[in-house]
Amino acid sequence: MQENLKKIQNQALQEIDQCKDLKSLQDIEVKYLGRKSELTELMHKLKDLSPEEKKVIGPLSNEVKTYIIKKIETTRGALEAQEIEKQLNSELFDITAPGTKYDLGHIHPLSQIQYEVEKIFSDMGFAVMDGPEVESEYYNFEGLNIPGDHPARDMQDTFFVKDKMSDRHGRLVLRTHTSPVQVRTMEKYGAPLRVIVPGRVFRYEATDASHDTTFYQVEGLLIDKNISLAHLKGVMAEFLSRLFGKEVKVRFRPGYFPFVEPGIELDFSCLICNEKGCSVCKRTGWVEFMGAGMVHPNVLKSGGIDPKEYQGWAFGFGLTRLVMMRYGIDDIRLLQSGDLRFLQQF
Ligand code: DAH
Repeated sequence: MQENLKKIQNQALQEIDQCKDLKSLQDIEVKYLGRKSELTELMHKLKDLSPEEKKVIGPLSNEVKTYIIKKIETTRGALEAQEIEKQLNSELFDITAPGTKYDLGHIHPLSQIQYEVEKIFSDMGFAVMDGPEVESEYYNFEGLNIPGDHPARDMQDTFFVKDKMSDRHGRLVLRTHTSPVQVRTMEKYGAPLRVIVPGRVFRYEATDASHDTTFYQVEGLLIDKNISLAHLKGVMAEFLSRLFGKEVKVRFRPGYFPFVEPGIELDFSCLICNEKGCSVCKRTGWVEFMGAGMVHPNVLKSGGIDPKEYQGWAFGFGLTRLVMMRYGIDDIRLLQSGDLRFLQQF
């Protein structure tokens, strides 16, 4: 057997050395290493040998096999190089011709602005949070002081999912806003808190140029001691000024949302006409931007925070709308369309 192995090794070596092209090298590989090769068959028979013989023949047959594999690999490398060189010499090859250009993707305009928003708020000490898009009825409504029979439910039409989350948390819905993450973060981290939550939300809508079933919002929540709406005004004026790169003013108007008391709407000074009045601000000099207010005591309680000890404010604005304003996009549906003619403009 030992001699047999040596014979196989020498024979293989000779054939590999004489081999001139990749195709015959492949044949040699099959012949010496393939399933039906003499070497493979010999290795199959190892199990029938006596223990003493096994000790010698086992390692030797492995050595021979590795040797042949290595030899084939180096020869293959050399032959490949030779073939490329042959090809280069025989073909007209213009090394100055430009290569094929790869199409590089880029970040979606929505994500671009989301990252800018996250950066500005992180610089002001806010943490960036996340929550589930398929949410329980409890977090989306009840926990935010919107009971099942409350007319405020009509403000947001919902997609219901058949499954229930649990008896306490009710049915599953596609979240209609990012506000449910308020209660989730309060439950998880307690007070004090300073977070923003960018995320995708869903509404049961008939779509048109300004309504879509899927869009993005950014929620904000700040809870601490001695917090007032003056802090909100300061934070938002700073945020918008940094985002737009020039000084922006903000103003409050009363507004109703069940999860805040008092509730407000926040407008910012129109950047197009500098408050003189134009078509963008509907001649008012102010652009409607977001809902906000002091977090309702019932919402603090849902989050396990004592309203007598802590208070805070929350806000929610449309990230999608911000992107539309920033780039002058007049149809919301374009943002989710995946249409490259649109996306390549950003
Ligand atoms: N969740 C509201 C919406 O989707 C927006 C909102 C209003 C969020 C007031 C808030 C808030 O946190 O305080 O329309």
